Amino acid sequence: MNTHISYIEANRQRMLDELLELLRIPSVSADPKYKDEVKRTAEWVAEALRKAGVSHVEICPTNGHPIVYAEHIVSNDVPTVLCYGHYDVQPPDPLDLWTSPPFEPVIKDGKIYARGSADDKGQFYMHIKAFETMKNTTGIPCNIKFLIEGEEEVGSDNLYTFVKTNAQKLKADVVLISDTHMIANDIPSIEYGLRGLSYMEVELTGPNKDLHSGLFGGAVDNPINVLCKMIASLKDENNRITIPGFYDKVVELSTQERAFINQAPFNHQEYCKALEIADTNGEKGYTVLEQTSIRPTLDVNGIWGGYTGEGAKTVLPSKAYAKISMRLVPNQDPQEISELFEKHFISIAPKTVKVKVSYHHGGYPAVTPIDSAGFQAANKAMEATFGKKPIPTRGGGSIPIVALFERELGIKSVLMGFGLESDAIHSPNEHYGVFNYFKGIETIPLFHQYFAELA
Ligand code: BES
Ligand code: MN
Ligand code: MN
Repeated sequence: MNTHISYIEANRQRMLDELLELLRIPSVSADPKYKDEVKRTAEWVAEALRKAGVSHVEICPTNGHPIVYAEHIVSNDVPTVLCYGHYDVQPPDPLDLWTSPPFEPVIKDGKIYARGSADDKGQFYMHIKAFETMKNTTGIPCNIKFLIEGEEEVGSDNLYTFVKTNAQKLKADVVLISDTHMIANDIPSIEYGLRGLSYMEVELTGPNKDLHSGLFGGAVDNPINVLCKMIASLKDENNRITIPGFYDKVVELSTQERAFINQAPFNHQEYCKALEIADTNGEKGYTVLEQTSIRPTLDVNGIWGGYTGEGAKTVLPSKAYAKISMRLVPNQDPQEISELFEKHFISIAPKTVKVKVSYHHGGYPAVTPIDSAGFQAANKAMEATFGKKPIPTRGGGSIPIVALFERELGIKSVLMGFGLESDAIHSPNEHYGVFNYFKGIETIPLFHQYFAELA
């Protein structure tokens, strides 16, 4: 362990500079105009794996962005760890809210500011630097495979196909992922669950064209007004989702497990203060920790229509749109939930509008048993480097491929993330602590060592 630390110390500046170089490539998967940059990122990652000493590295083309796959097999007698991450990033907008350009990383107050710094470039790159550290010091204790994709932020469609068609190649005893967060730098924690997702889009059409709101307003139903009413009705006064059947398959946790979840430190006042909100407003009967992890939700991600430009235009719009996503918990099925949503949404529309509902992407929820060898290895590794036992937490975010690893390959994932909730992932001024980056590089080799012992 000390050998690792001295190696990391001696190579600290270079390890940081390399990450900054990676952060300079704008690998926005959602926007076709970045296609070449995304490809360039895959090539950069492949080269970084080769330079770190991984014996076999390949770039696998897909119908979308390429997947980087690599493996380093040391022996048939040791377990295999599959490290998954994503090199694609969220779009950086709104650009005017960034204090420095999103693809020109700067370090301020010990934090690296750039799109993708925490989600997930800074986190998956720790695995490559941890590999390099082990390779050049104590050696590689497990067989290690790397699967780094370029489409996580857009639903991982092509990775689904890749995993299904490459089950043998991806065979492993555990999946290790750093793409989540911990409670605080001095309160390490490990997520043992992720929520699933159903992402929908709706389109309402009222009159056949935009109308003068003075000549027609008052008589003709306005699709934006209608949409707002319909959306408002999707939750009741207790903030429960009103879609019939929505909760049918939701696993209600035991009193013990709920108590366990609520052991994690949480301060409601500080939570509200950091967000500059007067109060929270979630599902009645559950704590915020529960509302954001073990309970399903429904949120409008965007809503538009009519005139949104400068100044005022008096118009009764023909169309209204919204993007609506639902976070799912065990045992909800994204396909079924999408169908329930569609059926319900159409049923509540008045006859004055036409409704179209479409499905973007989704993913199943996933839970990892905390008594598994993988979770225990992560637990021991973090305890060693933080000097404190990590707290197991249930997370609220989604990494859609995690459930597929389980269903298709039969492998559970360990979510050993080093980010913080305050890293502003997906937001302007995303950042990742320099402390967190190096803590990850220091901890990951211990995971492999302990996993080799425990598995
Ligand atoms: N890394 C995040 C998910 C995450 C962050 C989980 C923090 C737990 C804690 C991932 O990149 C992400 O943003 N996932 C998307 C889903 C995807 C289908 C767009 C999400 O959760 O919205
Ligand atoms: Mn991520
Ligand atoms: Mn993300």
